Amino acid sequence: MIVLDKVNKWYGDYRALTDVSEQVEKNEVVVVCGPSGSGKSTLIRTLNRLEEIDSGTIAIDGRDIHAKGLDANELRAGIGFVFQHFNLFPHLTVLENCTLAPVSLKRASPKEAREYAMQLLEQVGLAHKRDAYPNALSGGQQQRVAIARSLAMRPPIMLFDEPTSALDPEMVGEVLQVMRSLTDQGMTMVCVTHEMGFAREVADRILFMSEGRILERAKPEDFFTNPQHPRAQQFLADRRRD
Ligand SMILES: Nc1ncnc2c1ncn2[C@@H]1O[C@H](COP(=O)(O)OP(=O)(O)OP(=O)(O)O)[C@@H](O)[C@H]1O
Ligand SMILES: [Mg+2]
Repeated sequence: MIVLDKVNKWYGDYRALTDVSEQVEKNEVVVVCGPSGSGKSTLIRTLNRLEEIDSGTIAIDGRDIHAKGLDANELRAGIGFVFQHFNLFPHLTVLENCTLAPVSLKRASPKEAREYAMQLLEQVGLAHKRDAYPNALSGGQQQRVAIARSLAMRPPIMLFDEPTSALDPEMVGEVLQVMRSLTDQGMTMVCVTHEMGFAREVADRILFMSEGRILERAKPEDFFTNPQHPRAQQFLADRRRD
C-alpha cells in the first residue's frame, strides 16, 4: 500500500533521511521507533507530503505522491494524521470539529457527516461530549477527538506521530485503547511511538531508525527479545533503564 524507494531528505546540508526503502502492506500496523533526532517524524511526514523529499519515490496505492502537479491538499485530506499536539479548532464543538472537513472537502451532506461523526465519537467514548468545546476537554479526550476527526474522512491509512507523548500519564491508556481498536478493525497504520508495550502488543512490524536510516525491521517478538543491530540493542537497554 505504501512503497518507499531510496528516499532521501535534506534539511540544508543536514541529511535527515538516507536511502530509506520500505513497504507497508494493507492492514499492516508498523511502529517506528528510534532515538530522538533519528528521522522518525521526518519520515512519517513525507508520507502525506508535509515534508518534501529530495530524491527517491513514495507511492501510495501505486500513486507517486511526490509527483509534480499532485494536489498535496487533496492527498492530505485522504490520509489521517494525528500528532503530538492535538490541533482541534477551538471555536468549534467536538461534533463540528468532526464534520467540518467531510462536509467542506468531501461534500458529504451535513446529516450524513453528523451521523458518521457520532458513530466515531461513540467509538472513542466521547459521544456525550459532542457539544463541548475543545478547551473544556482533558488532553486525552482532545486527542481522542482528534482521532475521530481524522477518521471522519474515512482514510485508508492513519499516521500517528507520538500521539501520547504530550499527555499526562493517566491519559495515555485511553488514547492507546482507541488506537488498539483501530488495529482490530484492520486499519493500515504507521505509528511513531515510545510506548513499547503498545508496540509489542499491536505492531505487525517494528522499524528501528537511527541517523536517518532504517537499521532494523523485525517482528515485535524478535525486536524486543533479540534485537540484531548494536544501536537497537543500545536503544532498548537505555529505555529499560528509564
Ligand atoms: N525543519 C527542520 N529544519 C532543519 N532540521 C530539521 C528540521 N526538522 C527536523 N530537523 C532535523 O532532522 C533530524 C531528524 O528530526 P526528526 O524530527 O525527524 O527526528 P525524530 O526521530 O522525530 O526525533 P524525536 O524523537 O525527538 O521526535 C534532527 O536532527 C532534526 O534536528
Ligand atoms: Mg519526532
